[in-house]
Amino acid sequence: MELSRFIAGLPKAELHVHHVGAASPRIVAELAARHEGFTPVPADPALVEKFYDFRDFPHFLQVYLQVVDLVRTPDDLWTLIHGVGGDMAAQQVRYAELTITPHLHLVRGFAPKAFCEVIEDARHRVEADYGTVLRWCFDIPGDFGVPAADQTLSLALDERPDGLVSLGLGGGEHGVPRSLFAPHFAAARASGLHSVPHAGEVTGAQCVWDAVRELGAERIAHGIHSVEDPALLEHLAEHEITLEVCPTSNVRTRAVPSLAEHPLPALVSAGVPITVNTDDPPMFGTDLNQEYAVAAELLSLDEQGVADLARAAVKASFLGAEGKSALL
Ligand code: ADE
Ligand code: ZN
Repeated sequence: MELSRFIAGLPKAELHVHHVGAASPRIVAELAARHEGFTPVPADPALVEKFYDFRDFPHFLQVYLQVVDLVRTPDDLWTLIHGVGGDMAAQQVRYAELTITPHLHLVRGFAPKAFCEVIEDARHRVEADYGTVLRWCFDIPGDFGVPAADQTLSLALDERPDGLVSLGLGGGEHGVPRSLFAPHFAAARASGLHSVPHAGEVTGAQCVWDAVRELGAERIAHGIHSVEDPALLEHLAEHEITLEVCPTSNVRTRAVPSLAEHPLPALVSAGVPITVNTDDPPMFGTDLNQEYAVAAELLSLDEQGVADLARAAVKASFLGAEGKSALL
């Protein structure tokens, strides 16, 4: 069987994907049509795809926020999440930890309780309609500073939706020291949430060290610049801190110059646990099946190797032992 067909049929789990970044061009165009006149985002799916052409990482974040801006009503948010769940199920994604950035919605008028009710309702509907199980990572948008982090933590602790499993930290890395958010991650961890910050996506290994030491990171979003520091690679391998690697994302945001120069093979050779993910799939013109194919190419994997990648995602997930064994 062709490897791409094998990948398409393989049940998969995804650990690093942002809810807004995963919205299909069709759904984004539909939301843009709902709010026409108030957005630079085109109301035509083909033009949405063209709109996703990023000069660099800051430009990507700017466009990302323009899409966030389309999510204005509870129904917008529900439609987006339900659509993402359907797209995942079509790719045989049976379980996903979806990164969601509540602050960006709360500042656009969502009340905390209503926000959690909508995302939980959409999560349950996705499971009922498609069988795909979703969990949440509440993401602090680092560029918005400590007040946004305070708000994210309060929402997590006060509302504590059933689907919430972890606290994240996203956005830019330059000028956003991970240590700024140490108290938030300490409080989240004390309450039983897991720690999954972005680090080492566009800055160096020191950022990953900070995420590990200051934020108690159990997994790292991206972490690709760990490759610059052999002692860090050893630490990640020894402590089984998984990197959520998103190869095409890194090329499209210019975090790495090309797929051929992606550090994935070096990370794997160093014994660092990795999973393969999409980050913001339609924004980067990819999907999880394609990322598995990219990883297979970079790592020279056969069917067995690709199946091992899928198992690695289940193992590194925040499912309980029972949930994991049901998927393995
Ligand atoms: N938010 C959405 N995608 C992101 C990425 N790749 N890095 C940081 N924050 C993000
Ligand atoms: Zn991300």
